[in-house]
Amino acid sequence: MDLRVSYDLLIHGGTVALPSGLTRADVAITDGRIEAIGDLSTAAAAEKVNARNLHVLPGIIDSQCHFREPGLTHKEDLGSGSASAALGGVTTFFEMPNTQPSTTTAEALAWKVRRAKETSWADFAFYAGACTENADSLGELESLEGCCGVKVFLGSSTGSLLVDDPAVLARVLRSSRKRVACHSELEARLQERKPLAQKVHDHPVWRDEECAVASTRALLEQARAAGRKVHVLHVTTAGELPLLAAARDLATCEVTPQHLTLEAPDCYDRLGTLAQMNPPIRDGRHRAALWEAIRSGLIDVLGSDHAPHTREEKAKPYPQSPSGMPGVQTLLPLMLDHVHHGRLSLERLVDLTAHGPARIFGLGQKGRLEVGRDADVTLVDLKREHVITSAEQRTKVGWTPFDGLKVTGFPIGTLLRGKFVMREGVLQGKPGGRPVQVGALG
Ligand code: DOR
Repeated sequence: MDLRVSYDLLIHGGTVALPSGLTRADVAITDGRIEAIGDLSTAAAAEKVNARNLHVLPGIIDSQCHFREPGLTHKEDLGSGSASAALGGVTTFFEMPNTQPSTTTAEALAWKVRRAKETSWADFAFYAGACTENADSLGELESLEGCCGVKVFLGSSTGSLLVDDPAVLARVLRSSRKRVACHSELEARLQERKPLAQKVHDHPVWRDEECAVASTRALLEQARAAGRKVHVLHVTTAGELPLLAAARDLATCEVTPQHLTLEAPDCYDRLGTLAQMNPPIRDGRHRAALWEAIRSGLIDVLGSDHAPHTREEKAKPYPQSPSGMPGVQTLLPLMLDHVHHGRLSLERLVDLTAHGPARIFGLGQKGRLEVGRDADVTLVDLKREHVITSAEQRTKVGWTPFDGLKVTGFPIGTLLRGKFVMREGVLQGKPGGRPVQVGALG
């Protein structure tokens, strides 16, 4: 018997993804927090949501997005990127520093936080970009409101951020206090092999497995020497996986849905430069190894690496065509379809998109359906069939490499701190995103 007078919202009758597993339960929310979980069928609430035949997941956390503001807002901005996120069931995003200007100073970081408070549909945090100038003061940047940690480009990609000198990386590792997230490709080898990049099918030949393996090997050695924890973003090669498995104490890692879904050469045949991203989509051997690592538990999180470029920019002749593709809105639908096909369990998906990010980034308020935490919830219909289209993508660039793909399983509601921001594919209310607290490492 529940003695409380009334909750703000009751989600009842659904299958709830608790930290302990999937269970039939009701979820009660008051003041944006989870107030109770259990059999609450007799409880009163100002609003009730019938979740029968639905799954109630902790809100999806996407810890790798490029939302392009400031400076590149013809591609995306914090409003459009976060609207895509909400439509895709994402309630929290971490955004990358390769904007213009790059996010390498306290002013640039504060600007983004201010802007996101005005325009974001999801909760947020921003990476500080590491560079030679700030390598000794990253701990100060990380302590500012809305900073999720440091991002290091060990190999060059979109934008000008690059740390290819091990001495600078050593300073970065020494000064940072949070998990250092790294784009791991070896710059010297990228430069050396650039002449091999003649046509888009050469993308994984130019930026080959050894570029990633050599970079990750060196990174792990440096992290061990410094006694610092690192996070390897978008792992793409079979060769990096044993290195990461041997370094569980100091490294966490991410895979993207694109690298689990697309495969060379087919993606380059079908999509041309739309399939061009860094590190590249590779052949079936690598894709199979990534799936094995998903199933074995080696991979900690999924990130979309949402990296929009306009169709016109992508139409430039390779290799002048920029690398990157949108993905924040398709992350969950693609992965639910993989669940439908039995490639991973729903519990594993919840770990990769909510429990895992909360664990590795130290998010005290997010990522778990637990009394006292923020009521960030993604409602999912595992039976819903949906054809993904470019037209429905809210990203400013208006395309997805998955246009025309039929998926089974779809997010039909997104709640941010107890309020619907998306219902049946329609944004609700107005932007109300807030900065997320990310814990420092001991
Ligand atoms: O393909 C990519 N695009 N990889 C990156 O590392 C950066 C991103 C972008 O910002 O366009």
